[in-house]
Amino acid sequence: MTKGYKMPKGFLWGGAVAAHQLEGGWDVDGKGVSIADVMTAGRNGVPRKVTDGVKEGEVYPNHWGNDFYHCYPEDDKLFAEMGFKCFRTSIAWTRIFPNGDETTPNEAGLKFYDDLFDDLLSHGIQPVVTLSHFEIPYHLVKAYGGFSNRKMIDFFVRFATVVFDRYKDKVKYWMTFNEINNQTAWSDPHPLLQNSGLQLGADDNWEQAMYQAAHYELVASALAVQAGHAINPDFQIGCMVAMCPIYPLTAKPADVMMAERAMQKRYWFGDVHCLGEYPKWLPKYFERKGFDMDITAADLATLKAGTVDYVGFSYYMSFVTKGRDGDQEYDFKEPDDFVENPYVEKSDWGWQIDPTGLRYAMNWMQDRWHLPQFIVENGFGAYDKKEADGSVHDDYRISYFRDHILAMEEAVALDGVDLIGYTPWGCIDLVSASTGEMAKRYGFIYVDADDNGHGSFDRSKKDSFDWFQQVIASDGEDL
Ligand code: BG6
Repeated sequence: MTKGYKMPKGFLWGGAVAAHQLEGGWDVDGKGVSIADVMTAGRNGVPRKVTDGVKEGEVYPNHWGNDFYHCYPEDDKLFAEMGFKCFRTSIAWTRIFPNGDETTPNEAGLKFYDDLFDDLLSHGIQPVVTLSHFEIPYHLVKAYGGFSNRKMIDFFVRFATVVFDRYKDKVKYWMTFNEINNQTAWSDPHPLLQNSGLQLGADDNWEQAMYQAAHYELVASALAVQAGHAINPDFQIGCMVAMCPIYPLTAKPADVMMAERAMQKRYWFGDVHCLGEYPKWLPKYFERKGFDMDITAADLATLKAGTVDYVGFSYYMSFVTKGRDGDQEYDFKEPDDFVENPYVEKSDWGWQIDPTGLRYAMNWMQDRWHLPQFIVENGFGAYDKKEADGSVHDDYRISYFRDHILAMEEAVALDGVDLIGYTPWGCIDLVSASTGEMAKRYGFIYVDADDNGHGSFDRSKKDSFDWFQQVIASDGEDL
């Protein structure tokens, strides 16, 4: 056993999921079609397709997820047995507003989350809620072009206000847009669709479209923060960034400058969320690129007035980049400018495993944004083998968590980082966001279902279940 550091009293140990990846029940009780519902199954190395609506004969894994919509009472009991203090999930926008542009919410959708939150609370588990986790109503994509359209701000704020008001006595911790900065990988269509609901053609200027959509999202987030605080001043409303620190490959000055620019391009979203203003380099960049942006003075005032209360972030891996010979502009482009890190191992999906990067990132964010932090995702996607007796010996997962939790505890105990909690991703097996696979498993709890939705959907405990239970019981000391 490794000895860790005790986390402070009230630390929120828990687990994290997103509605579309586990609920299933994609068309029940008045739910509308979301962008996740038109994404087919991919595989390791084979991207998911996005179809024009739901098509006969295609496989859509988010339609069934792990059937949490029907199984949550049993799952909540298992979370409680592990000792969870909180459970992060999202509210599927299309359960509340099936098309996204209605003015009256769907009562059956609201009731589902009332029941879920009541059940969690009855076990002493507080819900932590993401408003938009890759679940934009498909109608808003088709009819409005997603967040390329300023009207989306109103639709989002209406949705946020309805759920803030409804759950004001049940939920304290909220986040606005999941991994808002993932869409910097704008050469790949999925992050842009998943984050912003954008479907672009070959002739469109994708990069400009990404910055414009992100701007509208940041304004929507700032308005939601203000609306939430007006409804309940005790609300803690955070942002959510995908934190993957980007290192220079060597000490060569051009590599160091490229890494700096890479960090600026990936984390300016956090600057706006946390500091309420655009960093100085970005308007210069827009100018140099000739981007004609719709950013008004009123928007800038809104951003300043709607800064977040904490930094929610995911951490899975770090990246490495290097400078280009003779290039003075350092226009880092993701993913083309990434190179391999020779010092770290990778998962079966090529994700670089770097626990020290978590401690580094926590220090970097503390120094830059001066806000409490909440690790709302961290975990290890792996192929698990279920033995004949039902057991799953996932020592590789335990080892990943042990190293990352220790790095997190060092950041708190030795470096003074202010951390609210830690919710490992996919605490129960669910559908992978990037590949649509069930085979890329993250859970402490095994779900008997395959990539095509076949199986009993029965739940069972992996070895990591008992291990994480002991971590929580010891407040992080027994790793
Ligand atoms: C984050 C997302 O990117 O990473 C989750 O917020 C996602 O939705 C998680 O599931 C792990 O990624 P993947 O592609 O392995 O499911």
